[in-house]
Amino acid sequence: MPGLFISFEGIDGAGKSTHIEGLAQALRAQGRHVTLTREPGGTPLAEKLRALVLNDPMDAMTEALLVFAARRDHLQQLIEPALVRDNVVLCDRFTDATYAYQGGGRGFDLAVLRVLEAWVQALPGTTALRQPDLTVWFDLDPVIAAQRLAGARVPDKFEAQPVEFFRRVAQGYAERLAHDPQRFARIDAAQVREKVWQDVLAAVRQRGWLA
Ligand code: TYD
Repeated sequence: MPGLFISFEGIDGAGKSTHIEGLAQALRAQGRHVTLTREPGGTPLAEKLRALVLNDPMDAMTEALLVFAARRDHLQQLIEPALVRDNVVLCDRFTDATYAYQGGGRGFDLAVLRVLEAWVQALPGTTALRQPDLTVWFDLDPVIAAQRLAGARVPDKFEAQPVEFFRRVAQGYAERLAHDPQRFARIDAAQVREKVWQDVLAAVRQRGWLA
C-alpha cells in the first residue's frame, strides 16, 4: 500500500486528539506503519517555531511566515521521507489551519497564503503541490467548543481568543471545504464521542484505506 497523508482540522476544543490516536491504532492493527505528527511542529526546529507562534504576540504576517517555515521543515525532514517509506502520515493540522486561523481568524490576505503554500508545498519536478489525501474536519459550534475548553488547561494565545474569532476560523474551514470538497470529510463534532469516532472510521473505510 502506498503512503497516505491524512490531516485533522477543527477549531480549538473540537476534540480531534483522541480520534487521531484511535485511528493510528486501527491502522497499525492492520499492519500499516503510522507516523503521528502535528503542526506547527513535528521536527525539533518546527517545535521551536510552534512555541513562538503559540505564546508570543506577533502580527498576522509574522505568524503566517512562521507556520509556513515550520511546515517547510516538517515536510522536508519528516512528512516526505515517511511517505517515501509508504507510511500513513496522520497530521494534527496542516495548511487548512493557516487559511482558517491566519486567514479567517486574523483576516490575513488569502492571496499571500496561496503564494506561501505554492512555495512551501511544491513537489520538485512537477507543477503539483503536496496536499493531504484526506482532511478530517471536526466541525463544532464555537460556543460548544468554548464550553469544552473552559477550565481544561491554561489557554495558549489562540485558545484565549473570543468566540467571534473562532466563528471566523470555522468560516475559514467551511470555505476550504467548499473549495476542495473531495479532499474533505466533515464530521459533526457535536455528537457523542463514540458517534464521532464511527464517522471518522467511516470516512477512512469509504476510501478503502481501512477494512
Ligand atoms: P492545537 O493543534 O489545538 O494543539 P493543542 O491540542 O496542543 O492545543 O494547537 C495549535 C494551535 O495553532 C491552534 O490554536 C491553531 C494554531 N495554528 C495556526 O494558527 N496556524 C496554523 O497554520 C496551524 C497549523 C495551527
